Amino acid sequence: MTTILNQLYQRRAQARVGGGEARISKQHKQQKYTARERLLILLDPETFEEWDTFVVHNCHDFDMMEEQIPGDGVVTGHGKINGQKVCVFAQDFTVLGGSLSETHARKICKVMDTAMRIGVPVIGLNDSGGARIQEGVSSLAGYAEVFQRNALASGVIPQISLIMGPCAGGAVYSPAITDFSFMVEGSAYMFVTGPNVAKTVTHEEVTAEELGGAAVHASKSGVVAKKYVDEVAMLLDVRRLMKFLPANNKIPRLSRVHPQQPMQPGHDDNGLRPALENILPQDSNTPYNMQHVIDNVIDDRDFFALHHDFAANIITGFARLKGRPIGIVANQPLHLAGCLDIDASTKAARFVRFCDCFNIPILTLVDVPGFMPGTTQEHGGIIRHGAKLLYAFAEATVPKVTLIVRKAYGGAYDVMASKHLRGDVNYAWPAAEIAVMGAKGAVEIIFRNHSKDHQATKEAEYTQRFANPFVAAEKGFIDDVIAPHNTRNRLACAFDLVAEKDLRNPWKKHDNMPL
Ligand code: HXC
Repeated sequence: MTTILNQLYQRRAQARVGGGEARISKQHKQQKYTARERLLILLDPETFEEWDTFVVHNCHDFDMMEEQIPGDGVVTGHGKINGQKVCVFAQDFTVLGGSLSETHARKICKVMDTAMRIGVPVIGLNDSGGARIQEGVSSLAGYAEVFQRNALASGVIPQISLIMGPCAGGAVYSPAITDFSFMVEGSAYMFVTGPNVAKTVTHEEVTAEELGGAAVHASKSGVVAKKYVDEVAMLLDVRRLMKFLPANNKIPRLSRVHPQQPMQPGHDDNGLRPALENILPQDSNTPYNMQHVIDNVIDDRDFFALHHDFAANIITGFARLKGRPIGIVANQPLHLAGCLDIDASTKAARFVRFCDCFNIPILTLVDVPGFMPGTTQEHGGIIRHGAKLLYAFAEATVPKVTLIVRKAYGGAYDVMASKHLRGDVNYAWPAAEIAVMGAKGAVEIIFRNHSKDHQATKEAEYTQRFANPFVAAEKGFIDDVIAPHNTRNRLACAFDLVAEKDLRNPWKKHDNMPL
């Protein structure tokens, strides 16, 4: 017995050094932790249970039998984050560059299948040279097996990808299918074809960082939801994110009110926030920071922003409102006056769909002058992309509470979770302006052939008549006009009212949303 136990300990110890001390030290010199070190930071202490530690590849080509390292370049298993179960896999760059073999892929598939069976999130830590070159098509098959599972798990369990090293070629498509990808600055990059191919084909000279570093993907492409200065910051922030997410799509909304923690101090105050009275500038064309509205509504100013640096004209993120997890979509007047453009539409649409999949109620804060005009947007397909956001709000059956903070003009009024898209509770602040368009533009069209004086009179009349929330309120499109200082209470009460809402869309195999 002692002998066999010793053998076990010995084999475990051998597995834990992965590709060996030299490669571990190379990893550390690049400011990168090893796969197991990363999992220790991500998971609650002493909760990680490793599976398939002794699995080895069975490739005989290119002397690969001499390179059989236990675990085959990926550490897999399960653990807990804030007490919630999660399945994890972490590619080990010290073993053949974390490259993906048939066996390596099978290990990832096993934890994904388990996560689906038991209904818990999967978090993948990616750090890999891509397909194991010595294995040829077997490694491509392995990738496809992972992609297939990503697609089937989408909308069933949350899937999160952490990009902590190279992620190139078709390998990028697994993170792309998952719900959120996060990236470390400096040491991680993602691209379909690397700098060398770019140079050959398009004659561009770019570095890996310029082509697919964290800054590019967090602000230009929108591929990742957030970037971090280092690995520890990323891993700790993902622990924070998990506080807002349910384990799967079957968790009823009510059971997620305070799932882990008791009510926190401060939630029991009277809920009044006088600061909200002073946020809107006198002139309705002057920008202000919508984040201040959010901070004064949510619990403890604890907002988990997603895609903060991409399409900054719309804010998306998670928070709690009197303990209840909610998703927030809000126009940001500080950028492009809060207009909806292509990037803002796709960013918000994907977020709304995530919330709808996972029963997370949506708060929509509206201050939108309309869609962004111009050839760049029209030729880029704002019709197709804007339709995504419209579609996402229209199909969502989760509780939807909307507050028009200031402007709600034109088609953008309809799109932003209006009453007509099955908004459950729709409120407006007294300074709200809800109309087809601004007074000046309206008068220039309908009184085009009249004198300037007449136009000025009509502009004042149009402003008086439409630049307020009462016309919409008279028609019941707005359920109430609320006092800014009491917003937190009114919104919390609205979410409470519709928490048990039961709304279903007609049966279909799946929809055909505009892509
Ligand atoms: C097998 C690999 C490997 C791979 C790296 N290694 N990538 N082994 N298959 N794909 C091994 C190296 O031989 C080396 O082994 C160790 O991992 C570390 O690699 P280094 O090159 O020393 O590391 P570094 O200098 O940091 O460079 C990292 C790298 C580079 C930029 C990722 O290794 C690289 O370019 N690798 C090839 C990338 C690639 O072309 N992959 C295939 C992409 S196509 P030793 O023994 O020396 O430590 C693809 C298709 C997927 O993935 C399609 C899915 C549908």
